[in-house]
Amino acid sequence: MDLLLIQSQEHDTLPLAELKAVLENENINSEIEVITNGLIHLKNLKKEEYVNNYQILARRLAYTHEILEIITIRDLEDYNNSLKENIETSNEEYIENMIEDFNTIDWNNYIEDNFAVRLKRFNKVSVDTVRLERKLGGIIKLATNTIVNLDAPTSFIKLIISKNKLFLTIRRFKLNKKHFQEMKPHKRPFFYPGSMNPKLARGMVNLSKVKEGDLVLDPFCGTGGILIEAGLIGAKLIGSDINWKMKNGTCINLEHYGLTDYKLYHLDVREMKLIDKVDAVVTDPPYGISSSTCGENNENIFYQFLDSIAKNIKKNGIITIASPDSLNLDKILNELNYELIERHEIKMHKSLTRIISVISKRD
Ligand SMILES: C[S@@+](CC[C@H](N)C(=O)[O-])C[C@H]1O[C@@H](n2cnc3c(N)ncnc32)[C@H](O)[C@@H]1O
Repeated sequence: MDLLLIQSQEHDTLPLAELKAVLENENINSEIEVITNGLIHLKNLKKEEYVNNYQILARRLAYTHEILEIITIRDLEDYNNSLKENIETSNEEYIENMIEDFNTIDWNNYIEDNFAVRLKRFNKVSVDTVRLERKLGGIIKLATNTIVNLDAPTSFIKLIISKNKLFLTIRRFKLNKKHFQEMKPHKRPFFYPGSMNPKLARGMVNLSKVKEGDLVLDPFCGTGGILIEAGLIGAKLIGSDINWKMKNGTCINLEHYGLTDYKLYHLDVREMKLIDKVDAVVTDPPYGISSSTCGENNENIFYQFLDSIAKNIKKNGIITIASPDSLNLDKILNELNYELIERHEIKMHKSLTRIISVISKRD
């Protein structure tokens, strides 16, 4: 079975890196083909595991917006041999050939009570969208004796056209855009400026390969944004902060989202000695203006934090951290014998680029 994933195009590397981390972490075996930025083909998923697979992806991924099951794939050139480049699908012969092809599919295998058809183009392919949607809708209606329901269809057929390929798919999952909106820091009962946006927080948790039941630590927990996202995918949580107001605020926020498997400490990270070592660390250490460094300079904070965390994380545990581009993190990683696994840059504004680094302690 094959899936087609529509991803966020807001960042060049993070959505794909997040997907790869979750596939590996959840033992989902699949070949990945990047069709174009924002469109990923997952090949050869095992039939018996496939529903479970896409449900896991839907539950975990922050940067994947839609998960579609592929019904069939066509080369656009097959519809009109004279066309090589500059596909103009409003061409009559071209559309007729497509329609004839869509008629060969047994739609009763896919459509439940009612349906909708939508077309999405990538790479600015020129397509007569409305005409194709209507024609395909007509075919399905006739073949299945069902009705069109554009508001809340039980079956959502999606035609994806990219470069020279056409994917005929049925939607299995669409991210509720409201989810990460509703999770935004100012909607939580305890708010303090400088909290990370929930989408990035979830992405970072995924990059740290956190599994359900894993023990995850954020030693600069602030208002608890990262811990909330780790908790929502089933991790056990440890949070700490040098500021007791933050520690208490995190407690209020975790309870607000129904998260109860946590321990919180009012603690300077440099003095941390946990009884149980954690599986992963995901954190946004203080830097810049809005986050308090308690008078310490950036370099010292990062050095001392990474030195301390090495004693509190399991062997091969993954740490995902945000840092400002002004900091020479590599120097610190070398001195403390950390390995850099991957890195992503996020431009926040003119004077700040955030660097997301995924690291692990060398033996
Ligand atoms: C950037 S904020 C963390 C934001 C957090 N990710 C959130 O979503 O709210 C950094 C936090 O580090 C805390 N902090 C600063 N120095 C610390 C230290 N030495 N040990 C522990 N926490 C510290 C600050 O009190 C602040 O709450």
